[in-house]
Amino acid sequence: MSEDRSEDKAVTSLDKSVDVPEQRAAGKTASAEVLLKVTGLKKHFPIKKGLLQRTVGAVRAVDGIDFEVHAGETLGVVGESGCGKSTMGRLITRLLEPSAGTVEFEGRDITHLGVGGMRPMRRDMQMIFQDPYSSLNPRHTIGTIVSAPFKLQGVTPEGGIKKEVQRLLEVVGLSPEHYNRYPHEFSGGQRQRIGIARALALSPRLVVADEPVSALDVSIQAQVVNLLDDLQTELGLTYVIIAHDLSVVRHVSDRIAVMYLGKIVELADRESLYKAPMHPYTKALLSAVPIPDPKRRSAKSRRILLKGDVPSPISPPSGCRFHTRCWKATDICKTQEPPLVALKTGHQVACHHPENAPDQAPGQQVLAQAREAVELVTVAKAEPEQPPDAPETAQDGPKE
Ligand SMILES: Nc1ncnc2c1ncn2[C@@H]1O[C@H](COP(=O)(O)OP(=O)(O)O)[C@@H](O)[C@H]1O
Ligand code: SF4
Ligand SMILES: [Mg+2]
Repeated sequence: MSEDRSEDKAVTSLDKSVDVPEQRAAGKTASAEVLLKVTGLKKHFPIKKGLLQRTVGAVRAVDGIDFEVHAGETLGVVGESGCGKSTMGRLITRLLEPSAGTVEFEGRDITHLGVGGMRPMRRDMQMIFQDPYSSLNPRHTIGTIVSAPFKLQGVTPEGGIKKEVQRLLEVVGLSPEHYNRYPHEFSGGQRQRIGIARALALSPRLVVADEPVSALDVSIQAQVVNLLDDLQTELGLTYVIIAHDLSVVRHVSDRIAVMYLGKIVELADRESLYKAPMHPYTKALLSAVPIPDPKRRSAKSRRILLKGDVPSPISPPSGCRFHTRCWKATDICKTQEPPLVALKTGHQVACHHPENAPDQAPGQQVLAQAREAVELVTVAKAEPEQPPDAPETAQDGPKE
């Protein structure tokens, strides 16, 4: 049985021949190069019923999203379960066929490339999956699993596949001797390292990690996140990291996209998003993240609990999809979908009454239902609380 080798082991034995462009290897500063561009991307899964399997509706899993990922950066994608994050990840890596919109990689339209057309692109974009237990074939050795990408692509690295796989195992903090072992002999954290080694085998440019640490023990999560971070600096990788809460992506993301029911509702650089979130949903998500600084913890002891359930993506609410759960919702929110627009440099939000920015539809009356939309829970202090930006201030206009 393999012991849990120091999980926080530094990246070792990086082959000097790995091509790391200087500017990206220098740190996490993203370049201006747009590596991935997504425009109007949609995925509607048809719902079929009856003997004739007639289409009776659709799950609008991803419903029109636009974003770019710059070479060398990490884009974090967060949102509650079911909001379309995994579908988005599979669309951009072309494991799923989009229903509409375009995906461009390195300036090339790959939206409708078939398996053959995608094969050479597969070297450049890889995915790390959520569940390190089901994503590794239990009957294959670690050597077979990590060498699969070379065989699929018909690539023989210098020095042979076995030597390269053993080097990769070291890079991710495992031992070359693990080559002949089986997945069941490893802990969850180690299995995820094996998944990472497999994803890195062909030196991809873009790695999409779908909740890479959600299935792991909390004590191991930071080590795997740190490994991903180290590898990015060493190998000049670009990441899209998907998570269901903001705590995982907080330390590694340069920018963060917040998704709600198939849409991006806010997209901003990390500092701006954490310091001054503009979308009420982001504010609610942030209030659920533990604050590490004890001084700030006592000051910010309020949790915003959204009461309603996430509506079904089969028939999402009209207007702003968040209006059924938002404490600031007004009439316009029910009828007009707010577009995702930049209200500050590098900070896009889709909201008629944003936080920390001028109200886009001042003078509107907050809906009666909105007053019941959230519950405030005071965690440390026992003093009575006002709702977040109590309804009357929601109509006050600019707060800056
Ligand atoms: N293959 C599929 N067929 C039908 N519905 C799907 C399929 N994959 C995902 N969905 C639905 O799409 C929505 C978004 O799912 P998903 O992308 O997995 O969300 P997340 O990763 O944010 O939890 C969910 O309602 C889910 O049930
Ligand atoms: S204020 Fe209106 S537009 Fe903004 S999130 Fe709430 S419901 Fe949506
Ligand atoms: Mg998912």
